Amino acid sequence: MNIHTYEKVWLIAALVLIVGFIATVTYGSVGLGIAMIDDSEETVEPGELGEDERFADPRVEQVGENEYEAYVVAQTFMFSPDPIEVPAGSEVTFYVTSRDVIHSFSVAGTNINTMVIPGEVATMTVEFDEPGEYGVVCNEYCGSGHHNMEGQLHVVEEDEFDMTELSVEADDEVETGDEATIDVAVENRMLEELETTVTLEIDGETFGEDVTVAGGETETTTFTVDTADLGEGDHDWTVTVDDYEDSGTLTVVDELEEEDDDDE
Ligand code: CUA
Repeated sequence: MNIHTYEKVWLIAALVLIVGFIATVTYGSVGLGIAMIDDSEETVEPGELGEDERFADPRVEQVGENEYEAYVVAQTFMFSPDPIEVPAGSEVTFYVTSRDVIHSFSVAGTNINTMVIPGEVATMTVEFDEPGEYGVVCNEYCGSGHHNMEGQLHVVEEDEFDMTELSVEADDEVETGDEATIDVAVENRMLEELETTVTLEIDGETFGEDVTVAGGETETTTFTVDTADLGEGDHDWTVTVDDYEDSGTLTVVDELEEEDDDDE
């Protein structure tokens, strides 16, 4: 059989194209390490994320020296936690799930981009070398607020990164002469020990207490304030631990009023 030279050229060109297409598609689906969410992953109950060990409290956890895990929940129309904070020079594994409908977790300017399907957990590991701020957006139409569904991912300088949580419980109203207490709980969610100072400022007076909080632990410092020294009236206080601050007002009264609901 005699094939015309031009026809041969076109045949070969068409074959090269076909093989090229197949190679491209194959590389795109296998070579880049991109995987579909599949049902071999463990599933979660979208309606019961509140009881789920991993997702009840969306957060970033330190699991190794430079290794972190981020548990992220997408829901109409937000991501939590927001912002997600991780240190530069770290390797972060994201676990993302949805509380309601299908969303996506897409970090603008990076190749982090996954569908977030209720019941499934999307998992991906990413290395962050440099500090930076990224927008997190939802790429799947999820309802009337879809275009407003966004969050933040902050990659912060390694030495500025901490996972300290401050929570303060304080008396609101105390009778003159009684002691007022302010409990300051410092939680250290890093693996390394945290040495810091808890400072209470009330009425221009400052009290400090050094604390050492072991990795993964919480230490509570209690300040006792003598209200006889303060006198009646409102007294603003501020509690500071590193860059964290909480404030409130302590009211010292002559006599505490009896609780009376009809008297509003
Ligand atoms: Cu969530 Cu679109």
